[in-house]
Amino acid sequence: MSSVLVLNGPNLGRLGTREPDVYGAGTLDDLRTVLQSDAPETTIDLRQTDEESQLLHWLYEAADSGAPVILNAGAWTHYSYALRDAVSLVTKAGGTVIEVHLSNPHAREEFRHTSVISAVASGVIAGFGFDSYRLALAHIRRNGA
Ligand code: DQA
Repeated sequence: MSSVLVLNGPNLGRLGTREPDVYGAGTLDDLRTVLQSDAPETTIDLRQTDEESQLLHWLYEAADSGAPVILNAGAWTHYSYALRDAVSLVTKAGGTVIEVHLSNPHAREEFRHTSVISAVASGVIAGFGFDSYRLALAHIRRNGA
């Protein structure tokens, strides 16, 4: 596998300064460095957007290229049916989309207990900070997805 898409949704560009007690002190650049050193043979294509349509188009790109996706959709996780449909079109076509969260949404406010994407994702890893992404990447590498 040559490339893994690591897609991040709204407010995740603020990692490092945004609620560090919840999300940790590391930035997205730190995350890219950690993932790249875990998988030197792979291109870690880490992106972040605050625009929902942009995230949809990146998922279409994954559907077309077959690149595996690690997805932290931020708050869109909880209510975006458009995002759910885009994840579904990737996984139903045989692609891999692993839903990840830094925090454990189930241990937080009630509105975070619902994920509209989990049912169509390949798997879900939450609550382990950067390790949520690292575990997802380890799975992808192990399975050559
Ligand atoms: C998050 C959890 C979401 O509830 C929240 O809206 C985020 C980050 C996480 O990584 O823990 O933005 O996806």
